[in-house]
Formats: sequence, structure tokens, C-alpha cells
Amino acid sequence: MIILGIETSCDDTGVSVFHSEKGILSNVVSSQVKLHAQWGGVYPDLAAREHTKNIIPVLDNALKEAGIDLLDIDGIAVTVAPGLIVSLVIGISAAKALKWSLKKPLIPVHHIEAHIFAIFLSEEVEFPFVALVVSGGHTELYIIKGFEDYLYLGGTLDDAAGEAYDKVARMLGLGYPGGPIIDKLAKEGKEVIKFPRPLLGEKGKNRFNFSFSGLKSAVMREIEKKIYRKEDIARSFQEAVVDVLVGKTVDAVEEFGIKNVVVAGGVSANSRLREKFLKEGKRKNFSVHFPPLYLCTDNAAMIAYTGYRRLKEKGTTIGYDFEGKARLR
Ligand code: KG4
Ligand code: ZN
Repeated sequence: MIILGIETSCDDTGVSVFHSEKGILSNVVSSQVKLHAQWGGVYPDLAAREHTKNIIPVLDNALKEAGIDLLDIDGIAVTVAPGLIVSLVIGISAAKALKWSLKKPLIPVHHIEAHIFAIFLSEEVEFPFVALVVSGGHTELYIIKGFEDYLYLGGTLDDAAGEAYDKVARMLGLGYPGGPIIDKLAKEGKEVIKFPRPLLGEKGKNRFNFSFSGLKSAVMREIEKKIYRKEDIARSFQEAVVDVLVGKTVDAVEEFGIKNVVVAGGVSANSRLREKFLKEGKRKNFSVHFPPLYLCTDNAAMIAYTGYRRLKEKGTTIGYDFEGKARLR
């Protein structure tokens, strides 16, 4: 089976061809990161205009790289939620046009679900596992019991972890996206300030929720004092974020007695996060799985693959009346 995947939920235009026996045949991503750098974050109207310009060339390249004809495709998988609505509708419209012209099934994919299932493109992980999804738009914890059998444990009450990285980088005048820059800079710094670990160790309904906006303000206050070097502030901030992300995931592992953890989304590229997770996994006897870097950030291979599973295992398809959704549990 050959599935075409389309991803336009944020600022990356992605098209991928997935083959059920041969794996990923192509995975083309056109990044708008340089364009958005001047805003220090994603500017929705600009993102939508770029998707409109890029979607057909990216589709063309994905087909060429895969060495297949459009007519060989058995289905079209598209991100329908969550994301910037003005961006989502570009990919959904393209997918509907393909459905109409090819008369092939259209399969809906949830962006977060796809981030989690991207792991299966590189290795098999046994169910159930705890999934931590950390990106520019999301910080969420789930128990994944099987395909389409998910338990939502909690998520951020304000900023996402990646968003906090991007905002702190902007406050330090470091550029965008902030995650990789802070990751690198922190290696040269020391944890000179013990920033708060928001909601870590919390009992009750917030035990699996996150909150990074107070931490961001605490960092702002330190920057304004002009006492410490950027490296040290970056390191101190990163230690706090990583402690919270790893700590809450370990709490979920222990509470539910689970042996596998999958960490997905753009922030899972963070070197300190990976290091700490592997160390805790050894200490507490659970195994941690990270998708390779090119599958951590937004891409359409994860959409094509998740769509493939949905069609094969559930037979779910949608019609032309389907709309994208900015939010969807
Ligand atoms: O998954 P992704 O590509 O897009 C979203 O769906 O948001 O994630 C992008 C986010 C950005 O906030 C970026 O700063 C962050 O992932 N990021 C990192 C690292 N690489 C990317 N954050 C921390 N450390 C990194 N090495
Ligand atoms: Zn994403």
C-alpha cells in the first residue's frame, strides 16, 4: 500500500510517500523558519501564504524522490488538527483536491498522534508506553495502550516547553527557533540560579499538568538584573525545564507501572533531555525511545505512516465536508 502524507499544521510544508513494505520513499519538508525568525515565532498569515506557494512544488518533489506516479497512490493522509487553522486548511484543501481527482480514500490524522507514532518508522515499541510530546505548540503526557487507545494524562496550562525555549531565547537576544540555540549555549554554562520547577511533585489533578509561563517570567527577571552570563542563564533555565519534563514522565511510569517511554516532538531533540531520560531510565528500569531527529520535528512521513495504520487497522476515511480543527483532544 502506498500512502501520501500531507502536513501543514504550523510553519512547515511537508509531503511524504510511505510504502507499507519499503518504508519512507520520500519525506520533503519546506521550512519557513528563516521567514518567521524576524517575528521570533510563527506569524500565521505569513505561514498560510507560504504553504499556498509551496504545497504543489513540495508534492512534486516528494513524488519525484519516491519515483512514483500520482496514480500509484492508494490513499491520502492529511493533518486535520490541531494547529493554526489558516495553515491546516491549505493541506486539507490540497488533500481534498487529490481525493476528488484520484478517487482515493482521504484519511484524517491528528498531529500529536503522528508525532508519537513516528517512533514506529525507526523501531518497534511494545504497548503500553508513556508518551511525552514536547514541541513548540504542545507539552502533553499520554499512556498509549494501542493504536487509537490513548489515555490523556495532562498537558500545559499555559506555554508549551518549546514555546518557553523560543521566548527565553528571544529575551536573551539569541534568535529563532530558540531550542537548538539554548541547547548549545547551555553546554558552556553552569546552573548558577535554581529556577522553580513548576508543578513538579504536585499531587492531585495537576500532577501531570505543566506550566512554563512563571518560569519564563523568573528568567526575565534574572536577565533584567544583568548579573549572570547568557550561558549560565540558558543552563539554569534548561535544567529547570528538563527536570520537570523528565520528573513528570517518571511519575507516570511509576504510577502506571509501565516499562517503555516514547519522547516525541521538536524539543525531544534536546541533548540534555535525552541524557537525563536515559540516565533515569537506567536508574528506574524503564527504556526510553526517541525518533531520529528528522522525524522529531514537523514532517509528513509521520502523517503518512499514521494514516496508513488508520486505513489498514480501522478503515477510517473522511469526505469533502470535513473541516480542520485548531484544537482537538
Ligand atoms: O515539533 P516541532 O518541529 O513543531 C511544532 O509542532 O511545534 O517543534 C518545534 C519546537 C521549537 O519550539 C524549537 O525551539 C524546539 O522545538 N526545539 C528544541 C530543540 N530543537 C527544536 N528545543 C530544545 N532543544 C532543542 N535541541
Ligand atoms: Zn509538531
